[in-house]
Amino acid sequence: MRQLYGVASLAELVRTHAPCVVLTGAGVSTESGIPDFRSPTGVWRRYDPMEYASIDAFRAEPAKVWDFYGRRLASLAGAEPNDGHRALAELERRGWVEAVITQNVDGLHARAGSRNLVEVHGSIRTASCGTCGATVTSEEALGLLPVPSCPDCGEALKPDVVMFGELLPEAAIGCAIRLSSQAALMLVVGSSLEVFPVAGLPLETLAAGGRLAIVNRGETPLDDRADVVIDASAGRTLAALARALPERRE
Ligand code: APR
Repeated sequence: MRQLYGVASLAELVRTHAPCVVLTGAGVSTESGIPDFRSPTGVWRRYDPMEYASIDAFRAEPAKVWDFYGRRLASLAGAEPNDGHRALAELERRGWVEAVITQNVDGLHARAGSRNLVEVHGSIRTASCGTCGATVTSEEALGLLPVPSCPDCGEALKPDVVMFGELLPEAAIGCAIRLSSQAALMLVVGSSLEVFPVAGLPLETLAAGGRLAIVNRGETPLDDRADVVIDASAGRTLAALARALPERRE
């Protein structure tokens, strides 16, 4: 049976294992109006990721994949950081959070003020040319639909997000593994922990003797490895955590 805890237990764990490394997923952005992927209202309930978010699909039908990402960009247009993003940025400023590793491509952690941020699945904010390396903003790319072509060499541009079948950006995943293996505590927020290699990062922390805490609506495969599991809103929980952890004194 899944044992659940309150914010006081999480605050105590962070306090005694500071600074912690935070790993976030789409569940930290749903309160900004951006749907996640695997919950009942998730994106993959409506779209097959292999048809719309794989590198093979992009190569075979770039217009179809760009149409999908155009819709996702439209859903991000009005999105603002929420209490969860802001709480993590504040906890970093106070010294309780060393870094945020995020699977999200929406850019909301950066806009909330997180500084030591590792975007392991890239960013939807830009698109690049695989041939000559030219990069444009997504707004510019949207103006070039159905298939944006590179302004320099004419090849098809691709959104700068990691698609299924692609390797993660080497520097980003290398940094994420290093942070995870050195963390005294990893706090996972809003992720189903179903997609590797990112889902393996908490295991790096545990293998090195670090502790794990999870804030997520719904179960994850690592709940029984966590010292603290909170099944509640990421925004409310992180805001309460920030209230419980004032300025950190070394
Ligand atoms: N508060 C807490 N948890 C939430 C909230 C919320 N407000 N909203 C959703 N969740 C939970 C969901 O119940 C779900 O368990 O967040 C989790 C999100 O899981 P996924 O939708 O699988 O998203 P994520 O883990 O980030 O997916 C990883 O898969 O498709 C790829 O590249 C995509 O980066 C993504 C990766």
